[in-house]
Order: sequence, then structure tokens, then C-alpha cells
Amino acid sequence: MPIETIFDTMEYGTAPEDRSIALQWIANHGGLIGPYVNGVFAPARDDLAIRNPATGEKLAGMTLCTKDEVTEAVQSARAAQPDWQKAGGPARARVLYALARLMQKHARLLAVMESLDNGKPIRESRDIDIPLAIRHFYHHAGHAQLMPSALSDRVALGVCGQIIPWNFPLLMLAWKIAPALAMGNTVVLKPAEYTPMTAMIFADICSQAGVPPGVVNIVTGDGSTGAALVDATVDKIAFTGSTSVGRQIQEATAGSGKSLTLELGGKSPYIVFDDADIDSAVEGLVDAIWFNQGQVCCAGSRLLIHEAIADDFHNRLKARMDKLRIGDPLDKSIDVGAIVDPIQLQQIQALVQANTAGQTYHAQTPVPEGCFYPPTLITGLHPADTLMQEEIFGPVLVSTTFRTPAEAVEIANNSKYGLAATLWTENINLALEIAPKLVAGVVWVNATNLFDAAAGFGGTRESGFGREGGWEGLQAYSKPRQPLPEPAQVTPFTGQGAAADDIDRTAKLFIGGKQARPDGGYSQAFFGPKGQLLGHAPIANRKDIRNAVQAQLACGWGKTTGHLRAQILYYLAENLAAQTNRFAERLDAMTGLTTGAEEVRAAVDVLFTYAAWADKFEGRAKSVPMRAVALAMREPVGAIAALCSDQHPLLGLVTPMAAALSTGNSITLCASAPFPLAATDFSHILEASDVPAGVVNILTGPQADLAPHLGAHMGLDTVWCLSGAELTQEVQARASSNIKRVWQGAAQDDHDSWLDAGTEIKTIWIPYGE
Ligand code: NAI
Ligand code: MG
Repeated sequence: MPIETIFDTMEYGTAPEDRSIALQWIANHGGLIGPYVNGVFAPARDDLAIRNPATGEKLAGMTLCTKDEVTEAVQSARAAQPDWQKAGGPARARVLYALARLMQKHARLLAVMESLDNGKPIRESRDIDIPLAIRHFYHHAGHAQLMPSALSDRVALGVCGQIIPWNFPLLMLAWKIAPALAMGNTVVLKPAEYTPMTAMIFADICSQAGVPPGVVNIVTGDGSTGAALVDATVDKIAFTGSTSVGRQIQEATAGSGKSLTLELGGKSPYIVFDDADIDSAVEGLVDAIWFNQGQVCCAGSRLLIHEAIADDFHNRLKARMDKLRIGDPLDKSIDVGAIVDPIQLQQIQALVQANTAGQTYHAQTPVPEGCFYPPTLITGLHPADTLMQEEIFGPVLVSTTFRTPAEAVEIANNSKYGLAATLWTENINLALEIAPKLVAGVVWVNATNLFDAAAGFGGTRESGFGREGGWEGLQAYSKPRQPLPEPAQVTPFTGQGAAADDIDRTAKLFIGGKQARPDGGYSQAFFGPKGQLLGHAPIANRKDIRNAVQAQLACGWGKTTGHLRAQILYYLAENLAAQTNRFAERLDAMTGLTTGAEEVRAAVDVLFTYAAWADKFEGRAKSVPMRAVALAMREPVGAIAALCSDQHPLLGLVTPMAAALSTGNSITLCASAPFPLAATDFSHILEASDVPAGVVNILTGPQADLAPHLGAHMGLDTVWCLSGAELTQEVQARASSNIKRVWQGAAQDDHDSWLDAGTEIKTIWIPYGE
């Protein structure tokens, strides 16, 4: 376009990025891509077509890896793992550093290929995806270097199976591979079927960087290949993608002993208060929902706008939408590119067409033919409308209004998801009051979609569990050096004897701060080693669990201060210490051992220890390379249930309780099944120690009957399975109902692991400067 005309029309011309570099790479690989196993590309097949969604043209053919091919890749990773671990952190750091350098060197190839394959604007792949991926490798080279000193008590998990989605192909690869390699794991990664290309370039880079053969393996394919990887003999599965597939994977790995992290969908609120800088908030929203065509798990897809400014805000937003330029992703002046695949486009169209609520506005901007969808705003929705609840995963924003901060929080949290949240207000006090109240793993204040390798990212509720990035992300790729022994099963003593006196010795459950009779009305007799009757313990059922969890959800313990929690734990310690003899006798009578007094002293010590930690298990302020602080706040995971170990009937009850309470959680304890009477006695200590109602509940009865109900309960966030693998499997098989965390405990003195299990990191981003 001649300059003269540009002055007349003030129109943008096109500024296409040269694609030949990417096409040449494909040609060099014969137009076919296939698995990268043991350091080489295996011969590829033309099973699936890889397409450029902007044009529909086929870029390459791809192998659909079979179960056998996945097995081969896993074997290669297995064979390489011991040496990679033994090489040591500093040696691994050199390799990760070389990967970062080489990715930097090939940044343009990677960016062009990403945009060709995925349809995202080159502006985004060039300035966001690729630089962030590179930063991830640099950052984790550092973690590898520091592992021997900073994480000396942790070791690699082994072989990690990693399954990633199509929305940020190289960035998700980096989030998965960098921490895994840093900690000494080897990996088998499966890129998404729509977007495998940059993973193949990365494979090439691995060969150049001196990654030992077998340390990184990449298998291409679709969901069937992913499912084969989930079934393979790997030690961990890390998955990012849809909640429905996450759920299937949680079910498939139940009882396998594989560790699991899930980063799933979201419907993240974008809250604008009436004192916000409106133009900045509008600009932020463009990034929140039209970045990557809205195909972002943490997209700010739910606008909650203060009623007083709603009309003004919507008008300014529509004006801005009309200026967004949709088109060729390789054009440097394009804002919105192509939707990843016609199937995804159909899903977006179907969801929007099925909606009859509110008013739908499509941006008044030219939309090319093909796999494109206009920026869309749907206003006037109610919080319960389908589109306010369901993830659309496209450039569609839904909007509703609120009147008070409390109402904004309520609407924001009215979601099965809990990934991210954004809030805009010029009032920093309001922002810092609201951020902790939002159920989300990440909160952005007066900004949105800020990411960095040093800051954790991940969700709560059905957005999944586990964090990626920062120190917290390393937890998911390492384990304590000392393996946890499988807890021994203990059989209760039998007998027929009558009680020595005629006092009623039928203990009760402890629910909602009160002694409670079991719903079913049954109890079970317990005998000492000589067959003497010690007492009866109630048999709890599903309804008792329901009552206990209801009490937990109402208890408000998570809002208390660490100082207060410490005081109550100290008080418990004091009251238990005062009854040492009584508890010691009870323990000895139940177990037939003479270690009762020692166990009581240990339990008192545990209470003192977690009382001490209650105001000291702190978060961090992350060192991120931008003008912002990223606060890593530790938040309680919420409502916990524990299947207490059979051994150490008192210590095994008090340890999970103290760790849970210290970190602000409520807990329902299912007592040691063969020796429950120390637990029922302990409820009197709870009553005497100012523990608020519902914070601790104690149930007795066969754990095998309780476990399935705990696993399936929608109100519980976490189940701690401390009594063995069999019940862990029972719980895990049902935990996908609400994507529950299931944890198998840690050594008694590994306080960090217990405290970690009681907390989840929320990253709160606060930019500074004008
Ligand atoms: P998906 O969850 O099916 O795909 C993600 C990855 O999982 C891909 O690599 C896929 O091959 C693999 N996969 C599929 N089925 C599998 C199985 N049974 N076992 C193991 N791996 C399996 O996501 P899809 O179908 O591409 O997109 C559907 C919806 O999922 C989107 O509309 C969006 O709502 C959501 N989604 C969310 C993402 C996020 O980042 N949270 C990313 C991609 C999709
Ligand atoms: Mg593609």
C-alpha cells in the first residue's frame, strides 16, 4: 500500500512474517513427524494430518503412536533415568542451560512454527509463548544447580509421563519438562494432536544440546496415545487439559501408586470495582479473554462488573472490540488469530447458539472465512446461566453485575472451578482484602495473565491440583529421600468377657463439637489382649460423614490467625499432658504393649510442634522479572478427612489433626480401626480445649466402609489415606467426583511434608509503578 493511501485511510497494511523457515524444517524432515525416542526420531508414518488452522492446509503427517511405541519410549526413559539422576544437579543444570540457549537461538523458527500450527498471532508466540518457555529452562537450570544444597532431602520420582494440550504447545512443554529434568527425572511427553510441531523442534534441540538419549522422549498421537501413556509403567502423570480427561486420568491411575498433577479448566472471574481505572481494565480484559482467541485455561472469561459502571464499561469494551483485527496469524499486526481446529470452532459456536439468555454482541470487525470466530460479549447473564458456569474456551466473554464487594466474592466463587481471578480497583486495601477470599490458585490485581517461571501456577477445586513453576512446582517432581513404609495392618483382639464394672462404656462419635450417637445405632465391642472387654465404639456410616463434613464447612477455622491456632494447639497439648496416665493405661490395655506413656508424650510433642509452626509456615515474595511482586501465599486446602493409621492409635490420630489444624484446615478423623478407644477418649480433650465446633470430628468404625464415602464426598477437598494402599485405592477410585487431592502421608518427623499437604499456594500478582 503506498504511503499516501495509508495517510488517507489510516489503515494498517499487512506485515506478514516469513514462514519459509518453518516450512523448510518440515521439508528437511520429509514432511512427516514421529516419535523421538532414545535420542533419535523413529521412522514416521502419515497416520494423522497436522494442519494450519488459518488456512486448513496440511503442514505434515504425524505418527499415531501405538501402545507398543509408547512402551518403547517409557523403557528408554526408564533405562536413562538412573544415570541422569546420578549425574547430579550441576551437570543437569548445564544441559538445561544449553537447552535454553539453543531455544533462544531458534526462537524465530519456534515462533513461526507455533503460529502456523496453532493459529495464534505471531505477536503472541514471538513475544510471550517462546520467551516464557525459554525463561522456564533458564530458571530451572538454576533449580537443578541448587538441588543438592537447597533440596538435599528430596530425590527424583523416576519416569514422568506428561500430556499437554494445544493452547500453549511449547510453553506447556517447558512447564512440564524443565522441572522434571531439573529434579533428575526422565520424561515421555505427548503433545496434543493439533499442535505437535514445536515439540518436534524441541526434540531436535535436545539432540543438539547434549541431552543424553532417553532422558527426553516425545510420543506423537491423540487421546489413545495419551491413555496408553497413563497406563504405562511411569512413576508420575502430569496432565494439562480438559477437566473431563483429567477426571478419566484420575480414575485410571487410582491405586497405581503413580503420583499425579492435574491442571484443568477454569471459568475465571474478572472483577471490576467502581473505582477501577476503567480504560486500563478494558485493556486488561482484551488480554484476559482475547489473548490466544480465549483458548486459555485461566482466561478471564467471566466479567463481574460493578452495577454503577456497567453500561459505561460495556460501551467502552464494545468500542475496543470493534478495533480488534482478526486474520492471518502470521501477520504481525493481527490481534486475534485462528481457532485451533474446526472441531473447537464448532464447540464454541454450539455453546453460544444454545444460549438464549442475555444480549450477545459480536465485534463489528471483518472476520475471515474459515476457522475464525469474532470477539464476543454476552451481557446481562445471571450467575446460574450455563454460559456463566461452563468453560467455552473461545473468544467469548460473559458478563454479570454486582453491587457490593461481598457480592462480587460470592459470585466469583460460585463456580466448580478455581483456577485464576483478576480484580481491578484503585483501592489497594480493597484489593488485598478480596484477593485472599477468591477461590483460585492465581489472583491478578490490576493486571491479568502475568506468568513467570519463578511463580507457581495451578488451581483448586475442579481446576486441578499441583503447582507448576517456582519452588512449589518442584514438589510435584520430587519426593522425600526416605521412602514411606507401607503401614502395617493390625487385627483387633477378640474376646467375650464382660466389663469389670457395670458402667456403660459405649463411646460416642464426635461431630460438630458434640458427642453424637451413630446414625445407624450400631456399635462394636473392643477387647484387650487377654480377651477382656474394654468398651464399645460406634460404627459410623455415610450420614455421620455427611454431618461431620457439614460441620467442617461451617466452622470458619480457615479464617483464624496462626496465632490463635497455635494457642488452641498448645491448650490441647496441655490438657493431653495432664491426662498422660489415663491415656497411657488405655493404650497399653488396647495394644497389650507397654509403650503407652511414650506414645502420649510423643503426641504432646506433636501438638507443641504444630502449634509452633502455626504462625511460621510462611509464603514467599517471588523474584519475577517485571515490575510486580508475586506473593506466594499459603492457604489451607480446606476440608480434610483422614483415615488414621492402625498403629499408634493416639499418635496416628493427633499427628494428622495437629498438622491440619496448624495450617487452617478442618478435619474429620476416622480413628484407628482396631484400637479406636483412644480416639473416643480424645474427644473429651477436644471439648476441654476451646476447639471450635466442627473443626475436628472423630468417627469410628470399619474404615473400609467409610473410605468409599470419603472418596466420593463433594464437600471434602482432600483425603489423607494413612492406613495403607488398599484403602487409598478405594478413595482414589472415587476422588474424581470433585477432583479431590489424595495424599498418603509422610514420615512422622517430616513436618514440612505434613504442612505442605495442608496448604496450597495462591500466587497474588501486584504490579507496581504508574
Ligand atoms: P483434551 O483434554 O482432550 O486434550 C488434552 C490432551 O490430552 C491432548 O494431548 C490429548 O491428546 C490428551 N488426551 C485426550 N484424551 C486422553 C485420554 N483419555 N487419556 C490421556 N490423554 C488424553 O482437550 P481437547 O479435546 O483438545 O479440548 C476439549 C476442551 O478441553 C476444550 O474445549 C477446552 O474446554 C478444554 N481444554 C482445556 C485446556 C486447559 O489448558 N485447561 C487445554 C485444552 C483444552
Ligand atoms: Mg495444527
